[in-house]
Amino acid sequence: MMKAAAPAATAVLVVMAMMVGSAQAACPPQFPLDCASYVLDSSSVPGKICCIEVQNNFQLVKPTASLKSYCEAIKGVKLYNGPLTGTELSLALGLPQKCQLSDQYKKGQKCNGTIMPGGS
Ligand SMILES: *[C@@H]1O[C@H](CO)[C@@H](O)[C@H](O)[C@H]1NC(C)=O
Repeated sequence: MMKAAAPAATAVLVVMAMMVGSAQAACPPQFPLDCASYVLDSSSVPGKICCIEVQNNFQLVKPTASLKSYCEAIKGVKLYNGPLTGTELSLALGLPQKCQLSDQYKKGQKCNGTIMPGGS
């Protein structure tokens, strides 16, 4: 009885571990909704909450920080007519610099083939 129960319990634990693992992989940080108006309306300036979310959600907290997850979030944005392009894409790529976070990420990182402005 005990011998039969042990492998089943192990199997349940493995399944749970896989579910936790895939749940984390499926939920990378999303592009902050509070930054949408800045990206879609080029005449605006990024709002304070937008900038706080860019810094916090993507861990832009030291001069060597990576913009990789921020870049992935940009690529994950889907408008009614597809991914961000042109001016909207440039605005999104330049957002960390516009939010005055240049001291909080590494210079010269590329996203979608373009070097992200700013950095240190
Ligand atoms: C990135 O670049 C490719 C072509 O170089 C383009 O098709 C794609 O839509 C671009 N934008 C994003 C957000 O991935």
